[in-house]
Amino acid sequence: MDIRRLSIKRKLMLITMLTSSLALFVASLGFLAYDLIAFRGLMSHDLMTQAEVIAANSAAAVAFRDEASAKETLSALRARREIVTAALFTSDRQLLARYDRENAAPNSLPDRLEASGYHFEKNYLKAFHGIVLRGQRLGTLYIESDMQQWYARLRRYAAIVGILTLGSAFFAFLLSSRLQSVISEPILGLEKTIRMVSAEKNFSLRAVKSNHDEIGILIDGFNAMLSEIQQRDTDLDAAHKQVVESSRQAGMAEVATAVLHNVGNVLTSVNVSASFVTDAIRKSKLPGLAKAVALMSEQSSNLGHFLTVDPKGKRLPYYLEELAEHLSNEQVVMLKELSSLSKNIEHIKDIVAMQQSYARVSGVVESISAVELVDDALRMNAEALTRHGVQIIREFGEIPKVSVDKHKVLQILVNLVSNAKYALDEGNPPVKQLALRIGMNENSHFKIAVVDNGVGIPKENLARIFAHGFTTKKRGHGFGLHSGALAAKEMGGTLRVHSEGPGKGAIFTLELPLMPGKPFNG
Ligand SMILES: Nc1ncnc2c1ncn2[C@@H]1O[C@H](COP(=O)(O)OP(=O)(O)O)[C@@H](O)[C@H]1O
Ligand SMILES: [Mg+2]
Repeated sequence: MDIRRLSIKRKLMLITMLTSSLALFVASLGFLAYDLIAFRGLMSHDLMTQAEVIAANSAAAVAFRDEASAKETLSALRARREIVTAALFTSDRQLLARYDRENAAPNSLPDRLEASGYHFEKNYLKAFHGIVLRGQRLGTLYIESDMQQWYARLRRYAAIVGILTLGSAFFAFLLSSRLQSVISEPILGLEKTIRMVSAEKNFSLRAVKSNHDEIGILIDGFNAMLSEIQQRDTDLDAAHKQVVESSRQAGMAEVATAVLHNVGNVLTSVNVSASFVTDAIRKSKLPGLAKAVALMSEQSSNLGHFLTVDPKGKRLPYYLEELAEHLSNEQVVMLKELSSLSKNIEHIKDIVAMQQSYARVSGVVESISAVELVDDALRMNAEALTRHGVQIIREFGEIPKVSVDKHKVLQILVNLVSNAKYALDEGNPPVKQLALRIGMNENSHFKIAVVDNGVGIPKENLARIFAHGFTTKKRGHGFGLHSGALAAKEMGGTLRVHSEGPGKGAIFTLELPLMPGKPFNG
């Protein structure tokens, strides 16, 4: 069992139980040792007292070497179960009498008699006592006691110490299982909050502080940290929303600019047609007809004479014939101009309708063909592309329908095409070429490349071309590529640039997943 892997609750309980039990165990051992040592002293003192009584009682028997009487005196020891052997020796160290405990193999007697005193030897307590009568030493008493009482006491005490230790461990367990919660509960609460915060990413959660100790300080610190993170999270969120919103607006502005540009160009043609028609009407010969009619109504009374005799009247039919021919020519020209005018107005209507249809579906993913998207982007720039004599090359590979937010994709493409047109204008190559390529990529992404042979991009600009506000145009705002790259990323794709350098043209590649929701990993 690895103690470091245990929960705080378990650790606290284990530590409490171990310390309290160990403390009690050590204290009990001290008492036990003291008691057993004291008990040895008591035993030896007791044996010496016994020896003194027997020595006194056996003095006469020893003096007269009365064996029977000596035996009789020793047999009084029967009452003491711990005494194993006893013996009386005369002054010339002859054995006078001996006593052996019943049902016990007789112990060997000591080889040497000693002065009064005792000693412990192996598992026995051995004592000698002089037999003295009126100051004269008559002999020696030897008594030997076993240590069974002492061992019994040792066993009893050991059992008590064991029971006490177990009991104290049990009570320490009961007590610590309640008291540990004072420390472990706030920590567990903190841990629970941390888990919830990291699982839900909800920084508005707070750990509850119940103690004013180090854990309390820890919880305060943690909560303060959460507040800080929450604040930053909110700020970040707001900033992100702002970026998304401004990039959306920039994207819309990009398309609106392209649309307005286009409409403006068509309106120029409309204006030319309108002035032409106005001019033609102003210079029309139609008033001549009114004059002729007025002349004829003046002469209504003698119209026949007027037409046949009057020189003015004779010219009138020829004039009318000429006028009729002229007016019918005029009508043809004006009808032609008016038809072109209405075509142009129709074109404006189409452009506005297209813009509206894209604006309406913003944020909605639709299944659409990539070719249609590219054609719409070209159409929005069509007028300017034609005016600048740009040759458009379509290299459309076969790809399945794509599911995208077509408004976003159109914004990106419109800007790429309009950028290419500017680049072609500025680079002014002999043949201005704009190629549009559609193809598949690995990992179910499709790509649309906008390739021009225009002015190209110097190396140092490649790195910052997607930065917000980067532009090299007098009237550019540098939002297009920035918002385009952001929109591509939002859709799970990328917008990338490649150029061999100034004068070498540029390739912008938009890569998007065929289906949204599959993050791009390339
Ligand atoms: N096809 C291209 N060839 C050369 N330079 C380009 C091309 N497209 C973009 N750029 C450069 O990137 C700059 C930023 O483009 P963009 O973000 O669309 O903003 P803007 O069109 O308003 O300048 C342009 O000003 C131009 O210098
Ligand atoms: Mg642009």
